[in-house]
Amino acid sequence: MAHRSGDSLDRRTGHNLVAMRAVILISGNGSNLQSLIDNAKKIDLEICSVISNKRAAFGLKRAEQAHIKTHFVDPNLFKIREDFDKKLISIIDDIDVDLIVLAGFMRILSPDFINHFSGKILNIHPSLLPKFPGLNTHQKAIDSKEKYHGASVHFVTEELDGGPVISQEIVEVDSKDTEHSLAKKVLEKEHILYPRVIHWYTQNRLKLIKKDCITLDGNIL
Ligand code: GAR
Repeated sequence: MAHRSGDSLDRRTGHNLVAMRAVILISGNGSNLQSLIDNAKKIDLEICSVISNKRAAFGLKRAEQAHIKTHFVDPNLFKIREDFDKKLISIIDDIDVDLIVLAGFMRILSPDFINHFSGKILNIHPSLLPKFPGLNTHQKAIDSKEKYHGASVHFVTEELDGGPVISQEIVEVDSKDTEHSLAKKVLEKEHILYPRVIHWYTQNRLKLIKKDCITLDGNIL
């Protein structure tokens, strides 16, 4: 099993002496991945590998530039979702990590995958969950005349975008916002939110107790 963070805290800095091993799953641009690469040292994170289900994902280039190992797993090679996920499980088990970070990974994961890594999968979603699960969240926020919109980080459970929310960042929606301008505002917040939450995790402060219950520093959120 991989090193468990929190075993060896530096009392002076509060940082772990050994970073927590993680794999990051992406499908696209990878700007969240980039913010994690840039902050990795500060948040005690060792990004062991980046996995994509899209060959052309720009995030793969970002990973290569940072000398991080990459994997492309082609969904077309698998007849059913469960077989694709089995392949993912075997790759991730071989890498031996303590954390799986979904950063713009645009595939639904099967219950087998989620249960195999229960309590170790985090996702970032571009809405103030439970509002607007699924796709096109920015347009949905505009269409329903929301005053506020934002991003959420949650533990992944079997319910799509339905796992318990750990933390959120909020933006104001103004009347001139388009889907594009809103996405840009939210992404900027995501790049602050995800490193913050992942640092709580790597410091062993964050736990999924059961499917709808999480604790931070032992307190139920
Ligand atoms: C981000 O906005 C992330 O929240 C969203 O995809 C974008 C990826 O951007 N994820 C989802 O919609 C998952 N349901 P990035 O590739 O630049 O990090």
